[in-house]
Amino acid sequence: MPELSRIEKWFVNKRGEGYFEKLLFRMKESGVVKVGNNSRILELGAGNGALSSLLYEKFHPLSITLTDFDQDQVATARKRLEDKFGGVPDVITVERADATNLRYQNNTFDLVVAHLILHHLGKLENIFTGLGEIHRVLVPDGAFIYVEFAHKQEIRRHLGELGFNISYRKGFHRETVIATKSSSLGA
Ligand SMILES: C[S@@+](CC[C@H](N)C(=O)[O-])C[C@H]1O[C@@H](n2cnc3c(N)ncnc32)[C@H](O)[C@@H]1O
Repeated sequence: MPELSRIEKWFVNKRGEGYFEKLLFRMKESGVVKVGNNSRILELGAGNGALSSLLYEKFHPLSITLTDFDQDQVATARKRLEDKFGGVPDVITVERADATNLRYQNNTFDLVVAHLILHHLGKLENIFTGLGEIHRVLVPDGAFIYVEFAHKQEIRRHLGELGFNISYRKGFHRETVIATKSSSLGA
């Protein structure tokens, strides 16, 4: 699992909330994702936490679990929330998590978000393990939103094999996909 280089970290960490407005627009445009104050959200590979911060401000969800594998990024995200909100809001948990080995129980989240992280999981086998974990922790009818530029076909094919429906797809080089977990297949 390759670590981010210093230059990659610099790029990732200069993203602000505004950078992710387009993703929120895509979510709205899709008509598939209904995020409300009952939603439990998991963000994987959250980087500096700007996306979770935006999701918190826009949707006031029941909970957000903001995670990253890199301990420095977890600390950066926590500091961002503290600076912005005067402390980490009660509904947000900030912690280290490996997307290929999640400690959460089956059917825990209504929405899982992974912005440009799947290719960071390394070889395809690891990406598939991560997708299996995402499927497991999502509730039936829950949504997985990701943005990715690598292994796009293979990822979509595997999502289908896991029992996801690809409900929305936009973009060419870098695609945004919303996959919903079929309600007829339990985790
Ligand atoms: C390109 S950055 C994207 C960060 C953020 N999502 C964004 O778009 O600004 C990829 C992130 O994935 C994280 N990552 C790498 N391997 C991971 C893993 N196995 N589990 C969870 N996160 C991982 C990295 O630490 C990094 O923060």
